[in-house]
Amino acid sequence: MTTAPTRQPAAAEVFDQLRRHLSAKLALTGSFAGRGAVEHSAEGCRVTLSDGRSALDFGSYAVTLLGHRHPAVLAAVRAQLDTMPTSTRSLANPVAAEAAARLSEYFGGALPKVHFGLNGSDAVEVALKLARLARGRERVLAVRGGFHGKSLGALALTHNPLYRVGLRGCAVDVVHLDPEDPDAVRREVRSGPVAAVVFEPVQGENGAVPLPVEVLRQWCQDAAGRVRDLRRDPVRPAALRGAVGGAGRGSAGGCGPGRQAAGRG
Ligand SMILES: Cc1ncc(COP(=O)(O)O)c(C=O)c1O
Repeated sequence: MTTAPTRQPAAAEVFDQLRRHLSAKLALTGSFAGRGAVEHSAEGCRVTLSDGRSALDFGSYAVTLLGHRHPAVLAAVRAQLDTMPTSTRSLANPVAAEAAARLSEYFGGALPKVHFGLNGSDAVEVALKLARLARGRERVLAVRGGFHGKSLGALALTHNPLYRVGLRGCAVDVVHLDPEDPDAVRREVRSGPVAAVVFEPVQGENGAVPLPVEVLRQWCQDAAGRVRDLRRDPVRPAALRGAVGGAGRGSAGGCGPGRQAAGRG
């Protein structure tokens, strides 16, 4: 039940366009992955390639957690397209209201306010702004190995310095903690005011790496009352669910977050 596109460009043309207009590296890795073919269509966990082969998709970076073209998702999107695909932004929108209410319900009512952002990085940016505005504090604690996006604020929290090459002076004052050091938060809050502690309960940058539960528990205790906000950032929550038994809403080492960033799945 795949829908044929109006024109299917040859794989070689796709690689040429990628190389010339996006990135040579993207073209190269895509060409290796598809052995010269490009993706054509998908259903559930299977992707059909331009040369007719089919491949198992193990998750597409957590974008298609329900599988490609899940019938319930298609039906809901089609129904909304047929009703009102974009909002006026001036009138109240019942779909946004219901989505916010259901998200809050998912978190057991502990996080009653919802902000819909553009993507994961935007969610992290908003969380950062809220934390810093709330008490006029600037310093933020993040974790080595963590990934929080590539917009400027989120990039400051992201640990890998490769992403910041040439971008000196990212505007946020961030200290990256050693994930094995249970005393790291205690030391930092003693040394000066901290606006927020931001972490992924399960880091996704190098596979699925759960942070040690005992360390998280200690950090949360040490942050309580001294740090304005505790923020968790599982933008890839469902992909990680298997690894931690509920990263999406469960308590990470007993830490109830002050804010929770979520995205994609
Ligand atoms: C934990 C985490 N935070 C933030 C982001 C950034 O999300 P986005 O790529 O949607 O901006 C990602 C993206 O992979 C992520 O894994």
